[in-house]
Amino acid sequence: MKIDEMKIEDLHPEEFIKQKVEEISSIVGSGLAINALSGGVDSSTVTMLAHKALGENLKTYFIDNSLMREGEPGHVISTFKKLGVDVELIDARKQFLDALGGITDPEEKREAITQTFYKDVFGLLVRETGAKYLLQGTNYTDIEETVAGIKRQHNILEQIGINTEKAYGYKVIEPLIQLRKPAVRKIAEELNLPEEIYSRPPFPGPALAARVIGEVTAERVEIARKATKIVEEELSGTNAFQYLAILHEDKVTGVREGKRDYGSQIEIRCWDSKDAKTGSPTRLPYDTLDRLAERMTEEVAGVVSVTYNITQKPPSTIEAV
Ligand code: XMP
Repeated sequence: MKIDEMKIEDLHPEEFIKQKVEEISSIVGSGLAINALSGGVDSSTVTMLAHKALGENLKTYFIDNSLMREGEPGHVISTFKKLGVDVELIDARKQFLDALGGITDPEEKREAITQTFYKDVFGLLVRETGAKYLLQGTNYTDIEETVAGIKRQHNILEQIGINTEKAYGYKVIEPLIQLRKPAVRKIAEELNLPEEIYSRPPFPGPALAARVIGEVTAERVEIARKATKIVEEELSGTNAFQYLAILHEDKVTGVREGKRDYGSQIEIRCWDSKDAKTGSPTRLPYDTLDRLAERMTEEVAGVVSVTYNITQKPPSTIEAV
């Protein structure tokens, strides 16, 4: 199936919303659909579109996969409660950590996350609720990168030949598939989502697993989570496109209070970019870098080395995994 991009200059947000709401209603009919909300701009936009179209016939879930940022499940659920959308929390932490145990290869990690989401978690929700449809916020860039073989985005299914009805027991509806992120932000704003959501920096579907090099364990995710919190606190005031902290696999020798401390390395990346297709490292002031290093080594247990990425994309990618 060939999908044509809808360019931002050709987008009429009001018309787009009306058309997608009609499409979703006519596909789902009087049945039930489910969707997973992560609080990112794509899944938030789909949640509001589908809520408009289906009301009570949409069940929205926040899947706690143990890979989200600090406090994220509670914050997202309460933000949507204020918008009139009930979101149910599903605790799938153990399922995801079990599936990721022992895996170090990036594409194998993505595959484990895909299977856990679509087969185990959504498969069960669909069986329990009787829903026939899953709505999700796949966008045009997700397909492009997957088809180009750069990285398999966890939400790409039909475009790589997976028949979701056969494999998982439900059909997938993707209302944002023709849009790139800046266009999705316009739709989110038109839907009256708060600015905190429509201007939120991108966060990958595999969440912190995309920022842990090597095996993803509860302990290692916790290090990445603490480091992410510091990076977000220190860099949210910049105009950067995206900023992140990566936990490296190799340990290095450090020294603390005159004693050897063999510890972890955190790499910080901060990107200037329009659409994530290309990117340049932001020229952060040295004082900011100093503060980041100080906080990382003081507040994140076991970190003895902090580096700042100075590579362009390409050949780097935005995330490390
Ligand atoms: P890369 O690392 O490929 O990232 O330069 C480009 C943009 O996509 C995000 N990203 C992902 N998003 N699933 C996602 O939903 C993924 O597997 C994934 N990998 C990268 C990344 O954060 C950046 O904005």
